[in-house]
Amino acid sequence: MKVGIVGWRGMVGSVLLQRMQQEGDFALIDPVFFSTSQAGQTAPAMGQTTTTLLDATDLTALAAMDVVITCQGGGYTNDIHPALRDSGWDGYWIDAASSLRMQDASTIILDPVNRDVIDRALSGGKRDFIGGNCTVSLMMMAMAGLFREGLIDWISAMTYQAASGAGARAMLELVEQMGHLHGIVADSLASADASAIEVDAALTSAMHSAGFPVQECGAPLAGSLIPWIDADLGQGQSREEWKAQAECNKMIGRDPSQPLVVDGICVRVGAMRCHSQALTVKLVRDVPLAEIESILASGNEWVKVVGNSRDESIPFLSPAAVSGTPSVAIGRLRKMGMGPEYVSAFTVGDQLLWGAAEPLRRMLRILIER
Ligand code: HSE
Repeated sequence: MKVGIVGWRGMVGSVLLQRMQQEGDFALIDPVFFSTSQAGQTAPAMGQTTTTLLDATDLTALAAMDVVITCQGGGYTNDIHPALRDSGWDGYWIDAASSLRMQDASTIILDPVNRDVIDRALSGGKRDFIGGNCTVSLMMMAMAGLFREGLIDWISAMTYQAASGAGARAMLELVEQMGHLHGIVADSLASADASAIEVDAALTSAMHSAGFPVQECGAPLAGSLIPWIDADLGQGQSREEWKAQAECNKMIGRDPSQPLVVDGICVRVGAMRCHSQALTVKLVRDVPLAEIESILASGNEWVKVVGNSRDESIPFLSPAAVSGTPSVAIGRLRKMGMGPEYVSAFTVGDQLLWGAAEPLRRMLRILIER
């Protein structure tokens, strides 16, 4: 199987390559590396037959692939995908970008949650398989058991999204902001009688100053947060918030005329690469908490239910604890004061693994094993 790989140098692409190497995927395919800027240079050595980089805008070269897997971004997808399809190419297109996600011809891929939807799409001859929005995918991974059992009436998801979701440069800027802030008060912190009030006043003044680095994030993220992610849809909702319901329902193949309501506020926080979400879940009936925990734990092999205690929540249910691991943690589970059908939950997952690269890698594996 000839697999064209585009956008492998970026953050999601490099995590994808790393995971493919860890799982031995390259031994099962003939990879062809494409580049939008460095065609002709040497490709990463993965035991393939084509050792140089091919031009990622060369439709003839792309059309020789059985599969194209791209992390290059939405602009590339918009430019290349329609032209490649118009040329008659009927290979499989696996994409991390959102551009094609909601099109009828596309299937949103998250196989531990919707393998049935993926299998139906493959049997029906569909060829475009698109990774979901990271927040949606991570919520679905955590809540897979309750979705499978049909127990969810609605979900309100309040998010705490990491800088990685805004891209590699935003992650770097977050650290630059941290360093900038620390630099301003380093001398005060070193003195035995440092005053928190004075340190805070200096930091707040620095955040308001013209020299504070906000080119990528748009506002201070270190020591603050940003309560808006992605475009303004004009009805008070951000595009990120709109995606929750739209993608969740499409992912599980739900009748669009009777959507499951998923809504909330999406917030950027100063975590590096783990998205967290506080969920209010309205169940269709009163289910005992122990049963909810065991249904959630049975959702897939990656979901980890964290006991709802201080001793377990603090060390195990945070971006710092989950970052870089394939686990999706869910905890703070309890019945809420609104009534026995209302359950609270807090979930954390790595935005670059299950939120981006892993569903793409596993889709390729599904095609290989077909
Ligand atoms: N839109 C997401 C975010 C990441 O900004 O965190 C991509 O799914």
